[in-house]
Amino acid sequence: MSIEAITKDYAAHVEGLQRSYEKALAESGFDAVVVHGGAARRRSDFDDQWWPLRATPHFQHWVALREPGAALVVRAGRRPTLLRVTAVDYWEHANAPESEHFVEHFEQVALAAADDAKAHVPGGRVAFVGDEAAIAARWGIEAVNPPGLVAALDALRVYKTAYEQGCLREANRRAAHGHSALRRAFFEGASSELELHLAYLAVTQQDDPETPYKNIVAYDGNAATLHHVAYARRRPGEGGPRTLLLDAGATCLGYCSDITRTWVRDGGDATSAVFRGLVEGVEALQQRLCAAVAVGMPYEALHDRAHDEVGALLSATGVVRCSAEEAVSSGITRAFFPHGLGHSLGLQCHDVGCAVVKPRADNPFLRNTSVIEAAQVFTIEPGLYFIDALLRPLREGGGSGRVDWALVDALAPFGGIRIEDDVVVRGATGGGATEIDNLTRAVLPEGGGAA
Ligand code: GLY
Ligand code: MN
Ligand code: MN
Repeated sequence: MSIEAITKDYAAHVEGLQRSYEKALAESGFDAVVVHGGAARRRSDFDDQWWPLRATPHFQHWVALREPGAALVVRAGRRPTLLRVTAVDYWEHANAPESEHFVEHFEQVALAAADDAKAHVPGGRVAFVGDEAAIAARWGIEAVNPPGLVAALDALRVYKTAYEQGCLREANRRAAHGHSALRRAFFEGASSELELHLAYLAVTQQDDPETPYKNIVAYDGNAATLHHVAYARRRPGEGGPRTLLLDAGATCLGYCSDITRTWVRDGGDATSAVFRGLVEGVEALQQRLCAAVAVGMPYEALHDRAHDEVGALLSATGVVRCSAEEAVSSGITRAFFPHGLGHSLGLQCHDVGCAVVKPRADNPFLRNTSVIEAAQVFTIEPGLYFIDALLRPLREGGGSGRVDWALVDALAPFGGIRIEDDVVVRGATGGGATEIDNLTRAVLPEGGGAA
């Protein structure tokens, strides 16, 4: 999708934000809010290097700009004021924004120095939203990230506007190029994990700090580390890697994609055939879970259904020697599928606003406990892993006989499987069925499997 096609919906996005902010300010007792874009942070107090700026998500909700010191002043009945620092700095320079579409929607003020913004802080009751409490103090603002206001602003991010959905669609398209390239490189079998990571950055034209989260590039047993980012530099030995789990995204105007694919090479042996069956099984159950998304359904019920599915797969492949129901009720599936089924997606990979309620105690890592509604965007990412630290208590406990440990030990070098798509909930049709728009499958039809 071209930037022009995406940004034609931007005016409506900003107008809606202005109305919603006015309501949130009135309800939380403020006249204005300063939304700070973030300041560059030192890599260490002992040297003079700086991390690339990670702009504040609340700021990026309005403006796709990653410029240290930028801030937005929002108040009722006025166009927001965008403060930008224009001081000449011959040591550092921010990246130019990908698009200038936002410029005409704000009163712009150029600041010679970041703290000159103080003169533009309005009178009355003012809140500050941002990472930099020290800046708020210098600007004389006491209310830093007031919880009621922040919760109201987070809630706005649950439902994505047409503009945001366009950004998320494009972020998926960008990431798909990287996934397709790495799938090919994996089946060629010659690259190290580090080389795959670097190839992904090159194909998707991203610098490492620009990715929505650090790429997870895991061969074989490394896939059992859910966030494996310590890339091996060693090239695969004779026979090549057996599996690749790639969890990697891209951004568009600050919005993220979050995509996982798992591929398996045929080793010609019985165990790799079983693992291949597991990959195909996770692919099939992931698609059933996508089809089961329904407006009005608690996301946690979908997560519970994922456990039923994983239990059925473990039972059908003989990894467990009990029924699917028993695998779930005895907690076995939680050792094989220890993370949540998914999370809200937007300006943050793990976006805010969908986990206001705590999950049940047996779903401690579930990040989406909301009721599914139209215009939400979330991931659906079931997994199945062979993680020694989680399987050991099961092996040593009373229910040990329910698991085929010889098979588990044979499968452990394959690491694990995760298949992750990003979906937009379109809403219920006249007949009551819910339609989703799978942003990932639209550009990457295969979820994983063999060559
Ligand atoms: N890439 C992190 C996640 O899937 O949640
Ligand atoms: Mn995810
Ligand atoms: Mn992911």
